[in-house]
Amino acid sequence: MGVPSTLRMKLSTKNVHVGVKESDPNFGSVVPPIYPTSTYIFPSAREGALRFAGKSQGMIYSRFTNPTVSALEKRLAALEGGERAVATSSGMAAITLTFLHFLKSGDSIVVHKVLYGGTCEFLFHMAKRYGIKVRVVNFQDIRAVEQAVDESTKMIYFESPTNPLLEIIDIKKIVAVAKKHKIMTAFDNTFAPPPLQSPLKLGVDVVVHSLTKYIGGHSDMIGGAIIGSNTLIGELYARSYLFFGPTMSPFTAYLAMRGLTTLEVRLEKQSANAMKVALYLEKNKKIAKVYYPGLKSHPQFNLAKKQMSGFGSVVAFELKGGYKAGEKVANSVKLIDLAVSLGAVESLIEHPASMTHSELTPKERMEAGIGEGLIRLSVGLEDAEDIIADLKQAFARI
Ligand SMILES: Cc1ncc(COP(=O)(O)O)c(C=O)c1O
Repeated sequence: MGVPSTLRMKLSTKNVHVGVKESDPNFGSVVPPIYPTSTYIFPSAREGALRFAGKSQGMIYSRFTNPTVSALEKRLAALEGGERAVATSSGMAAITLTFLHFLKSGDSIVVHKVLYGGTCEFLFHMAKRYGIKVRVVNFQDIRAVEQAVDESTKMIYFESPTNPLLEIIDIKKIVAVAKKHKIMTAFDNTFAPPPLQSPLKLGVDVVVHSLTKYIGGHSDMIGGAIIGSNTLIGELYARSYLFFGPTMSPFTAYLAMRGLTTLEVRLEKQSANAMKVALYLEKNKKIAKVYYPGLKSHPQFNLAKKQMSGFGSVVAFELKGGYKAGEKVANSVKLIDLAVSLGAVESLIEHPASMTHSELTPKERMEAGIGEGLIRLSVGLEDAEDIIADLKQAFARI
C-alpha cells in the first residue's frame, strides 16, 4: 500500500502535510518557507506576458499570490473539504468580501438573529449603502426562514455555535431551504473548525473563518479565509479579491499553518477541558445557567451531538449576581486571562455586558438572551483542575 494522495488522506494527515512538499523544491524544507517578497522576477518578457495572460502558473505580485500564502490556502481547502481557499488579512475581511462579492444592489440576504458583532455592524450599517437588504430571522424556525426568502434573496448566512450563547443551528435544514429556492449559503465556521464540524460536507456553498481563533490558536496572529468550490472561489478571487486587496502577509500564513498542524489535538484537549469546566459550573450555586452544547441541559444537545464531533472550548455562564458579579469575576481571575477572542492555548475570559456586547442597551441584551452577569470563557490547554481552582477563588469574591 502506497502513501495516500492528498485527496485520500485522512484529516489529521492533511493538517500536517498538505502544502509542504511542493513549497520548497530547492532545499526540501519540512516547513513551508516564508517568502516575504512583494514581487517576482520574470525570466523573460514572454514569460511575464504568459503569466499576465493566465497561461503560465508563475507568480506575478504578492497581492495576487505568494508561495507561503498558497501553501496555507491548499491546507485550508483540504481541512474544510473544499476545492479552493483564499486567505485574507482578517476574519472580517473574509466576511465582508464574501458579502461584497456575492451580493449586489437590489439583492437581499437572510441571516440568523445572532451573528458575530462585526458581521452585524456591516450588515446593519454598511450593507444598505450598497443597496443590499438584510432580513433577520430566528433560524430555529425553519418556516420563518422559508417565508423570509423571496425573488431578491441571493444568500442565506449563519453561524453555529453562535456567540456568546452557543446556540446550535441545524445546518442541513437551512441548506435544504436554500437548495429548494436555489439560493447560496455562506457559513462562518470560526466556532467549530474541522474536525468539530464540516459545513461544506453538509451542503453549505461557502465557509468563512476567522483564523485568529482556533486555527491560529496561539493568540499571535489575525487572519481569515474563504473556502468553497473552484468555481465560486475562483470567481471571487478573479473579480473581487485581487482588487479589494485583503491579502494575508506571508509571515501570518506561516503562523496559521503552524497552528493548523496541531489544531486537531488542541481541539480534543480543549473540548475535554471545557466539558469538565461546564460540569463544574453546572453544580455551582452562584451560577443561574450554563451554556455549553456538550451538556445534556443544552436545548440543542441532540442536534449538537449529530452535527458536531466535539463541542469546542467556549463555555458561557450567567452569574446570579448580575453585572456586578460579572465584573467581579472578570477582575478576580488570576490564571485565566481577561481578554476577548477564543480558541487559544491559554484560557480567556470576558464579560459581554461590559465588553463585546456593551454597544447594545440592557434591553437589547435581554432580548438577545445575554444577561448582565453573563461570562464567556474560552477554555485553554491548561490543566482543567487549575482552571476550575481559578474560577472557584474568583467566585468566592462575589
Ligand atoms: C464568529 C466570528 N467570526 C468572525 C470574527 C472576526 O474575525 P477577525 O477578528 O479575525 O477579523 C470573529 C472575531 O471574534 C468571530 O468570533
